[in-house]
Amino acid sequence: MDDNQHSFLSFVKVAVQRFREWDTGPIRLISHIDADGISACSLMIKTLNLQNRKYSLSIVQNVSSDFLEKICKEDYGSYIFTDIGSGHIRLISSLFSGKNVLILDHHKTEEVTLSKNIIHVNPTLFGIDGGREVSGAGVVYLFCKEIDEKLKGMAHIALIGALGDVQEENGFLALNNSILVDAVDQGTIRVIRGLRIFGAQTRPLHKILEYSTDPYIPGVTGNESAAIQFLQQVGITPRVGNSWKKIVHLTSEEIKNLIEGIIMKRMGEENPDDVLGNVYLLPHEEKESPFRDAKEFATLLNATGRMQKASLGIGACLGDSKNKQLAMRALIAYKKEIIGALTWFEKGKNPDQIERGKGYLIINAAGYVNYAIIGTIASILSKSEKSKNISYILSLAHMDERLSKVSLRKTNPRSSEDLREIMKELIDGLEGCEAGGHKQAAGGIVPLKWENEIIARAHLILGKKTMEERIDFLE
Ligand code: C5P
Ligand code: ZN
Repeated sequence: MDDNQHSFLSFVKVAVQRFREWDTGPIRLISHIDADGISACSLMIKTLNLQNRKYSLSIVQNVSSDFLEKICKEDYGSYIFTDIGSGHIRLISSLFSGKNVLILDHHKTEEVTLSKNIIHVNPTLFGIDGGREVSGAGVVYLFCKEIDEKLKGMAHIALIGALGDVQEENGFLALNNSILVDAVDQGTIRVIRGLRIFGAQTRPLHKILEYSTDPYIPGVTGNESAAIQFLQQVGITPRVGNSWKKIVHLTSEEIKNLIEGIIMKRMGEENPDDVLGNVYLLPHEEKESPFRDAKEFATLLNATGRMQKASLGIGACLGDSKNKQLAMRALIAYKKEIIGALTWFEKGKNPDQIERGKGYLIINAAGYVNYAIIGTIASILSKSEKSKNISYILSLAHMDERLSKVSLRKTNPRSSEDLREIMKELIDGLEGCEAGGHKQAAGGIVPLKWENEIIARAHLILGKKTMEERIDFLE
């Protein structure tokens, strides 16, 4: 463990001592709506339950000043923010004077605060990379484990949060890795070397090959019949009885042949054997369920949040079987929405809603796409064949008759551009807009009346950025 981690963990100990001095009245809990935020608040809820503490919970996309002003007036003495709050530390400090506040977050922040009433725990203040080394759920886990050792039994949930925030790159780093050690120790995670392809537990084999964009399989990705043919070529019958085979149905010999086959197809690519990687299995979860593979679990949590059913995701993290069933339904509904939206995009029925600039794409979906998944659509397209000559995707959809949801994505995860900064420029000075995010993904909520202005700015800003990239490339 390096010095930064050491000082952070010592600080966590001090913070826990402070927290123990709080009165035992009811707590107002606020968490972020994505997979990491849902995992984070599940860990906190488990801890509060163990302590017999009462709480009420809000799951939010972001903490606007209106929201903070509203909740600080509520009749609570204590507030806990998980995976959110660090970006507003100054405002929170000024609004919540006289209240107890605990913030457990890993997003960018302005300053350390350990004042009389505010406990601010954020690893980035200790030189730790909050984008890769630890997630919001990880911070909550480290804090809660200090309160009650029993939390070790939920280390896997902290890793699901990290996976949701895309912090795994063929292994976990630093604090995330120490959490993985806990989970493996507890037997709640088993790490195996396997095919690094999403959906191994739940999706038909030919489908995961067809949809595999990372790793990309030339001649197979994006083509269902080619995927079936490829399976036959490597000696795998795509069906068992009347149903399609999944990876879990393959013998080890078949898996070996499949992996070799994929590597052969990828011979012309930069790293042909980039198909092998760590797979994180939850041995206590049912095979072929979306809970068995930690990455699929994270996707399910995201789905519950996007479908406004985060409480089902929390129930699933806490192991409640009824909630798990319902969460799976939310996942199905979420997938249906996505398929509907992608079909709308493909068919191009409303061509004036889709604008292609040189190197960027603007999807102004208005009321044609559910705003809750407009970010997911931008993410999917950014990883697909369809964005071959595109660097940025901006998508918008109406939330109601007043507001619009905006999302921004880039197609090259290695580019150093910070989408949060670009998003800030897009809404700079426009009244009533709010936005946030990070390097890889940014989003916001804006009044409908600014949609055209934001799109016009996007043409300028994204046009200029892609032009610069092309020039860099020529040099
Ligand atoms: O919603 P979307 O997937 O586009 O969000 C991408 C990122 O932007 C997320 O990290 C999210 O928290 C952030 N965001 C935000 N405020 C919003 C919407 C999104 O900070 N109103
Ligand atoms: Zn997070």
